[in-house]
Amino acid sequence: MRLDIISIFPEYFAPLDVSLIGKARERGTLDVRVHQLRDWAHDVHRTVDDTPYGGGPGMVMKPEVWGEAIDAVIGDVGGDVGGDVGGAVGGASAEDEGHVTPQTAAPRAGGLPRLIVPTPSGRPFTQELAQELAQEPWLLFACGRYEGIDSRVMEEYSGRLRVDEVSIGDYVLAGGEVAVLVMAEAIGRLLPGVLGNAQSVVDDSFAPGSMENLVEGPVYTKPPVWRGHEVPAVLLSGHHGNVARWRRDEAIRRTVRNRPELAAALDPEKLDKHDRKL
Ligand code: ADE
Repeated sequence: MRLDIISIFPEYFAPLDVSLIGKARERGTLDVRVHQLRDWAHDVHRTVDDTPYGGGPGMVMKPEVWGEAIDAVIGDVGGDVGGDVGGAVGGASAEDEGHVTPQTAAPRAGGLPRLIVPTPSGRPFTQELAQELAQEPWLLFACGRYEGIDSRVMEEYSGRLRVDEVSIGDYVLAGGEVAVLVMAEAIGRLLPGVLGNAQSVVDDSFAPGSMENLVEGPVYTKPPVWRGHEVPAVLLSGHHGNVARWRRDEAIRRTVRNRPELAAALDPEKLDKHDRKL
């Protein structure tokens, strides 16, 4: 998968060099290219914002600079354009220069990315949306700051690209950068070969399947007793049926305690007699 990010703070994306996502980039499963939006501004101050029409607080990001940036990135099928392209975060580092993009990570020639605009007014980012986006060969994230991006940018590109405004939760961040980190990690870990154990994706809270809409229950590792706290005996029993039953019970208990709205929405048809007693 190719993942382009346009932002006035490319430094925010340094964490994409580490851990699972960093390894996926090294292997070529994920081709991340971070671009400095200001590289497409033309004045000496490299201005990207202006006052809002209709008045009100804050500033709005200018459409011209976004238009040039997005055009440059989407016109760049398989190659590099201006800005911090080629995986560079905040300027090309020695390691980034050595990063080559194998053909397997590149989108189909002539293909266009799906444009994702993080905003608190967007549709909710869910595990289901993460799975849908993980199927795409190419994603382009446009990080707004201030009061957001001039709406005509989304209008313009919705004629050419699939455009989604997406929110990671009902709170307001200072900009889209952290939301993109969240989405990139949630999507990246679903790509084939990124997680060591493919089953962990299947068992995730919110993953489609038998435990759908239940959060995961508690987990334990060795030692069997720590500071007087014991691992539940069933987990040491070796009885797979009982372990599965216990895990489901704990998932239901935790869902009721921490996510009452999810518990209330559980389909009674899918609950067995044992579940109903919990
Ligand atoms: N930008 C600011 N707040 C955001 C949020 N909650 N989700 C996505 N993008 C944002």
